[in-house]
Formats: sequence, structure tokens, C-alpha cells
Amino acid sequence: MSREIDEIFRRAKEGRPLFVNRDALSPDFVPPRLPFRDPQTRAVAQTLAPILRGAKPSNLLLYGKTGTGKTAVTNYVLERLKTEANNPSLVLAYVNTRLADGEYRTLADFARFLDLSKGKQIPLTGLAIGEVVDRIFENIRTNKKKVVLVLDEIDYLVKLFGDDILYAFTRSGNKLAPGFLAIVGISNDLKFKEGLDPRVLSSMSEEELVFPPYTVDELREILKERAGAAFRPSVASAAAINLCAAMAGSEHGDARRAIDLLRIAGEVAEREGLGEIDEACIKQASAKMEVDRVDEAIRSLPVQTKAILYAVSRFDGGTNTGELYLAYSTLCKRLGIETLTQRRLSGILGDLDLLGLVEASVVSKGRRGRTKKIQLLISKDTLTKTLSEDVAFEAAT
Ligand SMILES: Nc1ncnc2c1ncn2[C@@H]1O[C@H](COP(=O)(O)OP(=O)(O)OP(=O)(O)O)[C@@H](O)[C@H]1O
Ligand SMILES: [Mg+2]
Repeated sequence: MSREIDEIFRRAKEGRPLFVNRDALSPDFVPPRLPFRDPQTRAVAQTLAPILRGAKPSNLLLYGKTGTGKTAVTNYVLERLKTEANNPSLVLAYVNTRLADGEYRTLADFARFLDLSKGKQIPLTGLAIGEVVDRIFENIRTNKKKVVLVLDEIDYLVKLFGDDILYAFTRSGNKLAPGFLAIVGISNDLKFKEGLDPRVLSSMSEEELVFPPYTVDELREILKERAGAAFRPSVASAAAINLCAAMAGSEHGDARRAIDLLRIAGEVAEREGLGEIDEACIKQASAKMEVDRVDEAIRSLPVQTKAILYAVSRFDGGTNTGELYLAYSTLCKRLGIETLTQRRLSGILGDLDLLGLVEASVVSKGRRGRTKKIQLLISKDTLTKTLSEDVAFEAAT
């Protein structure tokens, strides 16, 4: 027995952790260099550089799908600019409008970079938006501040709250002199421009820059560098890195997804006491990410949309609009929630289709017209499990 225990302990001692620096694969890590983004890095730097001699940079819009390096490149350039711009009247502000979640908080976050919120000049709530904007402008003008404001995930702000703030910012020219305010907007929604007032659009997009999706080859190089910093040597083999790049890249070209996949695969390997990441670890990590993605998508849906999704899941081989509407109406009664019209239901089905949770395709029934063929694209078990956590669904699940 004692020999057996010795053996267990010996193996435990030998099983060293696979990670040397887990942070190198964390979402917020800014790597020391950003391969394949030299043109974009150079262009952002060139656009913002005039601020170093006190001149107003052009406004700039950065576009590109998720995980294409927009935030990373911008932060990289901002960090470098900060070390050059050691002058208190030069202000480099960064606000993520999705995290700020609201016009007021976006402005309040911005104001912190202007040292305005000290002395309670911008309380956390209570002022009218126009008043907050006025105070910000006043601060910039009287202190002759030269300001670059980065608004990351700007599409979120515009979609939910409109473009009033952007209108005020882009029309502020003379009100701020001798100070100024230049805006860098970042969006992963290419349609976001359609929601803007044409005057806002023309001044926001004095310069535009597109971030293309990464190719599988590029993702492989990016992963190789990040893996080198994160793992002990020989933990992430070339084959493992290739597979992660191929699985994350073939569809999306998304570096965040590739990096997440490698990190989670590493955690799986570590838990299983393996010395390196093998194919099974990566497959397992990918399945876990898919479950998490679906889980997250379902969780954030409004209750009506959840109800429709749940009704769809009651039909194993798919269904049509009429049948679904009946099931949905019955469910609403059981849950004690309002029943939307069939027309609204069709609209929401379209949203669920875009999210990849449901397939709602129009099929022709010959002379009898057309109907929608509706099918659940995710696992029924995952859906039921996630919905059962919502108190509104207790009566259903
Ligand atoms: N060229 C690169 N080299 C190394 N790492 C990169 C590169 N591009 C992106 N990354 C990493 O990939 C992840 C996602 O990048 P980033 O956050 O910049 O994407 P994004 O374009 O801002 O996406 P979103 O639109 O979803 O905000 C980050 O961890 C970032 O460090
Ligand atoms: Mg980003």
C-alpha cells in the first residue's frame, strides 16, 4: 500500500502545471506586438500623431468583424502616444460604450479623463445629458485641452440611444477653441453607419480604416506567439496550434476565438493531467465554448423571445408559423405573459434566425402560397437547462 501511495505522490509532484503565464491568453492581455496589423497600427498612429504638436487630428472610424484586433491596435497606439504626450493639456480618453451602458455613463466615464468628476462637477446621476455635455465642453475650452476620445463598440451606443451625443461632439468645433475634441469610433457592425445622421457620418468618418478577418495562416502565427508566452515549451505542439487556428479561423477569422480555444484546451489538458494539448482537448474545448456561447445568447434574450424559442423547441422535427403560434399562445397563458401578434412573432423569429438559434426559412407550398419552415438549431437540453434558471419560466420547464 505504502508503495502505491508513494507512486501517487511521485506522479503528482511530476505533473507540473502546463501554464507559465495564463494571462498571456487572457482576453485583456495586450501583446508586445500585433502581427499582421502593421498597416492599421501605422494608420491609427499617423492619424493621431498631430496631437503631439497640439494640432487637431482627423476624426477616425475603425471597422471590422469581432476579434480582428481593433481594440488591441487602438490601445497599443494609445499606450505609445501616452508616453510621448507628457503634457497635462493633452488628453487621451478611452470609453467602451457597451460597458458604460448608457449615454450618461458614457459621458461620465469620459469626464473622468478630464478630471471633471473630481469636485463633483459630474455627479453619477441627476444632470440632463445636455448639461453634462456643456460642462465637458466648458472644461475643454477653459483649460485649452486637446482631447482624443476613443469610443469603442460605438454601434452599441447608437443602436440603443441614437446619435445625439455624437451630433453634439462632431458639431463642437468653435465652442471648444482653443481646445479641441477628436473622436475615434470603433464598430464591429458594418451597418452601424446607416443609423447615423448624414452630418454626423460625414464628420465622424473623415478617415476610415477597415480590419479584415484573419486568415487561418495568420491566426496560426498569432497563436504561436501567444502560446510561447503562456505555456511551458512542448505543451502546445505545432499540430495543436494548427488545429485551433483552423477551427477558429475557417469561419470567422476571429483572433479572440482562436486564443480562447487554445486557453480552454490548455485548461482541459491540465485538469486531465496530460503533458500536452492533444486533439481531444481541443475538441472538448470547442464544444464547451459552443455551449457557453449558446447559453449566453439565450440568457440575454427578452422574455417574449425566450418564450418563442421555447415554443420552437417543442417540435422535434421542425414546424410552421401557424402551429408554432398556437403553441406559443398556450405557453404565454401558462406563463401569465402577454401574447404578441403573429406578425410580431414572425419578426422575432427573424432575429432568432440571425442569432443562429433557429432556422426560419420560407418554403413554397406551390399554389397554396408560402410558409415558414421553423427549426431549432441548438440542443434542446441546453435550452431547457438555461431557461429553467429564469423564474419567468418556472411554470414551463
Ligand atoms: N494581430 C494580433 N496579434 C496578437 N493578438 C491579437 C492580434 N489581433 C487580435 N489579437 C488578440 O485577439 C483578441 C481580440 O482582439 P480585439 O479585442 O482587438 O478584437 P476587436 O476587433 O476589438 O473585437 P470586437 O469587435 O469584438 O471588440 C485580443 O485578445 C487581442 O489581444
Ligand atoms: Mg473590441
